[in-house]
This record gives sequence, C-alpha cells and structure tokens, in this order.
Amino acid sequence: MSTELINRIDQIKAKLEAAAVATAEELETFRIKFIGSKNQIKDLYQELKSVPNDQKKDFGQKINALKQAAEEKFNGLKASLGGGDGKTGSNSAIDKSRPAEEIAFGSRHPLAMVRKEIIEIFGRIGFSVSEGPEIEDDWHNFSALNFPPEHPARDMQDTFFIQKAGEDEDRTKEMALRTHTSSVQVRVMEGEKPPIRTISPGRVYRNEAISARAHCFFHQVEGLYIDKDVSFADLKQTLLYFAQEMFGEKAQIRLRPSYFPFTEPSAEVDVSCTICNSKGCNVCKYTGWLEILGCGMVDPNVLESANIDPNEYSGFAFGMGIERIAQLKFRVSDLRMYSENDIRFLQQFKSTF
Ligand code: PHE
Repeated sequence: MSTELINRIDQIKAKLEAAAVATAEELETFRIKFIGSKNQIKDLYQELKSVPNDQKKDFGQKINALKQAAEEKFNGLKASLGGGDGKTGSNSAIDKSRPAEEIAFGSRHPLAMVRKEIIEIFGRIGFSVSEGPEIEDDWHNFSALNFPPEHPARDMQDTFFIQKAGEDEDRTKEMALRTHTSSVQVRVMEGEKPPIRTISPGRVYRNEAISARAHCFFHQVEGLYIDKDVSFADLKQTLLYFAQEMFGEKAQIRLRPSYFPFTEPSAEVDVSCTICNSKGCNVCKYTGWLEILGCGMVDPNVLESANIDPNEYSGFAFGMGIERIAQLKFRVSDLRMYSENDIRFLQQFKSTF
C-alpha cells in the first residue's frame, strides 16, 4: 500500500516538473489538475487513512511538499504568461506596456554630406566619379602635371614623402602621400580616350602645422572635362551652375587670374558671400566674396603627357576643398572640428541619406 502511494506521489511530482503552458487555457487546465478543488493531490490525503500510523507523519509531509510545489509551479507558469489573465500588467515579469527606450541614431559626418552633394550636382551634368590611390608616385602627383623639377610644392615642407627601408636619398622622393586628387585625373587620362568628364573626390595630405585654418590632411573634389572645342566659357558656366546649386540661385562667382603648373590660363574662383549677402561680414573679411576653388584650361603639356593630342582636344580642370565648402555651408569656424570626433559637433548635422 505505501509503495503504491510513493509511486503516485512520484508520478505527480514528475508531471508537475514536466508541465509547461503556452496559453491561458493550458494554465487553467494545470490549475484544475493540481490546485483546484478536485485536484489530484487532494486525493492523496484520502489515501493517508490507510497508511500505518508510524508512517503517517512522513507521508503527510511528502504530500504537503507536493502541494506546495504545485502552487509554486503554478505561480511561475502564470508569471511566464504575463499575468495569466491575457493582459500585460505590472504584475508580469516583463512589463510590455513600458515605453521603449529611445534608440540614439548616429548622424552623417558633414564632410560626407557635402561630398555627396557635390557628386550629385556634377552628376546631373554628366560627370562620373573616379578614385585613385592615396600613396602616389611622383609622375602622377607632379611630373605628368607639368610641375618643374624645382617646383616648391615638391619640397619636403609641403609633401609627406615615403621612404622605403634601405632606400637611398634620391629614391626617397619617388613616393608620397598625394597632395591633391589631380593625380587621379592623370590616371583617368592615361586610361581613357576623350571625351572625359569626371570628378575625383578624396583625401589629400600636406605637411602643414595644424591650426584652425589648416590641417595636414583634408578632402578635395577635382573635376576634369576634355573634349573637342572645350572653352573657358564652358568652365565659367559649369562653375556658376555649381555655385548656384550649392549656395542658392542668387550666388554669383568671380574669377581672379592665378597660376597652377597644370592649367593655362588659371584662375581662382570666389563665390558671393552667402552669409551677409555680399554686404560685408567677418567671414568674407568685409569683401563680399569667399574663395572656394582653383581652376583653368588644362595645359597642353599635361595633355601630351597623357598621350592626348592638344591640337585635337582641349579641356578644363578645377579643384576645391570639401572642408571649405562645408565651412561656408555650415559656418564651421575651426577646421580641426571635422576630425576631433566631438559628439556635440557631429550631432548638429542631420541628414536623410
Ligand atoms: N590641384 C589644385 C590644388 O590642389 C587645384 C586645382 C585643380 C587648380 C585643377 C586648378 C585646376 O590646389
């Protein structure tokens, strides 16, 4: 008789332990079986009558423990269902009614935003994007661009040269971090036949002391257009189109004569100050104009270096700093902020792309 009772206790215990519920109905079935007024454990108390007196206490305790285990199991299952009443409530282990924690979104870097905008503006008039290496040889960065051997830009002051281990002095100046992305345009001219219409965005390096106005690395977009009969008027109109797309349709440009080894004639381009509407402010230094880029007609020597016949083709080129355009667009007063990763600076730029 007692062994039979022990077996029944063990069976119920095993069932309790294995029980799992997924719905409120299943929980109710569990409750009826093990806790309700006609539950299985209650029957065991009836059986106690036939247990010999000296074993009654022991069995009583076993059955009580089983009853308690059933209640604990029920409470656990109920909690796992979120209250057991089908609602989400504060007595549930997980409060599903709590508002979600806010997710902090990152934002685009201002330079990435301006870079994209410049690419889009030129893309609309047929310019493709070309890229090239940041570690560049002398030919692509200087020689093919008509830099004379003694040109100061080749000097150690401006250029980060790269020296291979064990290389002698003369070879030291063969490789460098590119000082402009004109190097990419040489590569495009070498690899493609005109018509060529491309822009080259990318990071460039110059050996400058870091300050609010200068940095040892920055970003450029340089443009190149080569075809039959490309004229200075085409250059001017392209740059006016760019200035008005970037700074608004009231923007005006002015060209000042300048010098670059790779263009002839060359010019520097100013855009009318969008901050004071050309009335004069401390950003335009009370001139009403802001310098934004360099440009010119591609020097025939440069075309020849790339095996393009200067008697058949002509072209224009221009180059601008992304930092400078972003500075004017967002009024950034210190260049160093672009690379300091200060979240208070970066969070001010919101973008949808
Ligand atoms: N490469 C020049 C620079 O880095 C910019 C430029 C490009 C000027 C093309 C004229 C024509 O300053």
